[in-house]
Amino acid sequence: MADTDDAQEVKEFHTDVKQQTESYFLKGSNSLDWGMKNRLARIFNSRSGNTVMLAVDHGYFQGPTTGLERIDLNIMPLVPYADTLMLTRGILRSLVPPSMTTPIVLRASGGSSILKELSNEEIAVGIEESIRLNVCAMAVQVFIGAEYEKQSIINMTRLVDMGNRYGIPTLAVTAVGKDMVRDARYFRLATRLCAELGAHYIKTYYIEEDFETVTSCCPVPIVIAGGKKIPELDALKMAHNAILKGANGVDMGRNIFQSESPTSMIQAVAAVVHDRETPDKAFELYNELSNQRT
Ligand code: 5RP
Repeated sequence: MADTDDAQEVKEFHTDVKQQTESYFLKGSNSLDWGMKNRLARIFNSRSGNTVMLAVDHGYFQGPTTGLERIDLNIMPLVPYADTLMLTRGILRSLVPPSMTTPIVLRASGGSSILKELSNEEIAVGIEESIRLNVCAMAVQVFIGAEYEKQSIINMTRLVDMGNRYGIPTLAVTAVGKDMVRDARYFRLATRLCAELGAHYIKTYYIEEDFETVTSCCPVPIVIAGGKKIPELDALKMAHNAILKGANGVDMGRNIFQSESPTSMIQAVAAVVHDRETPDKAFELYNELSNQRT
């Protein structure tokens, strides 16, 4: 039995103070359950509302991508500057120390390679595995307009159902075929469709024209992919414009890990995404940090 001799008789119930109810900071996410919200709050910074996801999952369909040949040497030093690490379970188990506490977004679709039709994917990771790996979200590719469009959409809805059961959010990644037009009309269709069918947040590409119409009619947060490597200043401008036009962050790979100085670049991207630094100022930071390293 508990020893109650020292139990205090005087209590303070603060009957005059109304209990605070925090409204959730993330777009379209207020009605989600606690576990789901808590995971999303580890991905998105509640101060800025945004995230810098470091995407290193390219190997799941294209093998050892330039810059990702040695994840242990090239990527692990960047992790302290990322809000989230997006990768496959194979790389996670074989190369990422379990003492690392950066939230994991797990690549959960697969089954095709660059040698064949890319849209022919399935769910490639079970929900138990995602729970076992303690991930914060699962990512699935959705190929709107491609040969296996329906299959990829159903992959997403199944993942959403499984994730909802256990409080794990689903990131829908809108994949665009080589010959498809990348314009606002297409991205409005792709992102809205994913949101309507239950994705908790969506990754898409930035476009110069009318990107704000893509973010405004998508009811959940959008993060942008970096795409092919471009000069550092241009990548910073892209991130800056995306945030300005309503994106909630980046899920950037090649423009970080293929940079001349990846550690400097990820910090410059974070300055744009979290502190709304201008591209020129962030580029100054990039140069400063790069020079310190040489
Ligand atoms: C692959 C992916 C990648 O994570 C994505 O393309 C992000 O990387 P990058 O910035 O290099 O485009 O989803 O399908």
